[in-house]
Amino acid sequence: MTDEAQINLFEWSTQSPATPPSGGDGARIPTSAQVPIPPGTYTHIEALAQDCRQCQRCDLSQTRTHVVVSRGSPQAPLMIIGEGPGQQEDETGLPFVGRAGQLLEKILAAVQLEPERDTYICNMVKCRPPGNRTPTPDETAACRPYLLEQIRLVNPKIILLTGATAVKGLTGDKRGITKIRGQWITWQNHLCMPILHPAYLLRNPSRKPGSPKWLMWQDIQLVKAKLNELIP
Ligand code: URA
Repeated sequence: MTDEAQINLFEWSTQSPATPPSGGDGARIPTSAQVPIPPGTYTHIEALAQDCRQCQRCDLSQTRTHVVVSRGSPQAPLMIIGEGPGQQEDETGLPFVGRAGQLLEKILAAVQLEPERDTYICNMVKCRPPGNRTPTPDETAACRPYLLEQIRLVNPKIILLTGATAVKGLTGDKRGITKIRGQWITWQNHLCMPILHPAYLLRNPSRKPGSPKWLMWQDIQLVKAKLNELIP
């Protein structure tokens, strides 16, 4: 296969009908992050998760305790994408279970959304960046095919992008999160809402009008109203 053809495999728009996978045994994963995982590789999340658990496409695999694939429902209308696992996520293998995750659950509960039923939660990268640093562009690129497969399989009505890393990693939009939060964007036919990262809210506890928590309340209400509109 030519380089050009390989790179094209990353493109959402060039998706070809799924080739039935042999079953999450890791045999399909190119260990070199230069070699893509074609769209349509997986027919279900569990096969993808099995491959992720054996993945060595970037150096984060050397320091992880657990690969953090997702939690929630693969049938959920709302997909939530974070940056990457923190310490508690690395220890448990589940995304958003630390303090930021607890706050995220409260935010969802405020608009009657139940994480395990109504959402599918994952991250830009599936292994913890040491010291919780921001994942590098190479790490994000190595992990991206898995995320694209998750989006294809879940096919959510709305994607919630928490923080600038998720916005940039998925859509390539480099604008600051405070500039674009609360505004709908369409990426590859998917309706996306950029929101502030819950960890940022933890560092800014004020609830005054205009504060991060207040802005989050506005944004999550927009999301809930849109979900009600899309799911009669
Ligand atoms: N922050 C994230 O972005 N993701 C997690 O899973 C936990 C904290």
